[in-house]
Amino acid sequence: MSHRPIGIFDSGLGGISILKEIHKRLPSEHLIYIADSAYAPYGDKDKQSILQRSQKVVEYLLACKIKALVIACNTATVVAANHLRKQFPDLIIIGLEPAIKPAVKTTKQGVIGILATEQTIKSQRLQQLIHTYAKNIRIEKQACSGLVEQVEAGEFNSDKTQKLLADYINPMLIKGVDTLVLGCTHYPFLMDSINRLSNGSVKLLETSVPVTQQLQRILVNKGLQQVGKLGKVDFYSSELTAKQQNIIEKLWQGTIQIQQLPKPYC
Ligand code: DGL
Repeated sequence: MSHRPIGIFDSGLGGISILKEIHKRLPSEHLIYIADSAYAPYGDKDKQSILQRSQKVVEYLLACKIKALVIACNTATVVAANHLRKQFPDLIIIGLEPAIKPAVKTTKQGVIGILATEQTIKSQRLQQLIHTYAKNIRIEKQACSGLVEQVEAGEFNSDKTQKLLADYINPMLIKGVDTLVLGCTHYPFLMDSINRLSNGSVKLLETSVPVTQQLQRILVNKGLQQVGKLGKVDFYSSELTAKQQNIIEKLWQGTIQIQQLPKPYC
């Protein structure tokens, strides 16, 4: 058993979808979440910038003596996970990847849609996943520029959000997509809007449950799982504002104290 915290980060608020699941299934763990909102979105930045930010955030988490790291961001995973694993070989690092394998099991029509950021869509890792698990399946990929910003702004149902979703998803529906992989941790917060758009006809897949299960498996195997009283959740943002506090509490579904990520980490 280890009292040390688990570090979780995302470019912004999307990773709260992962944080919630981890807190639900591993309630005794002390969790530290970092929303790197000052630098969001990562998805249309160049690789070097994403690497630099991921590294800075992880340095802060290491200073907090974390026992494991969850990269709650598909984009940071495809760009930075290998680099971070090389740099911090003793740290347990769990990354995220789009749910291609489960989607292949779910689709009835054999047509899968993938929504993700530009960096994830063009990544080699996504190509590998498709090659490994979805060889005989039709894949429709869509980079969804603008959606992360809508979630960061707390606009889950606004006209602009609906319009962006319609532009990205309607062509997929016409092509017969029946299973949609949400390959960015911000998108689960748009599930209601997506379901409305597709009249609930499309199965939506995200990865908060399998990632949490994987984390738990590793902690148990290494004898590091914390049990007992409720663990605390420390929340940091690299760009904390009053508006953001409100949005975070809406997503977290409760009050939570948020701290500004200190310099020189932001
Ligand atoms: N939540 C991040 C992901 O899963 C969004 C990246 C971004 O900031 O563009 O990819």
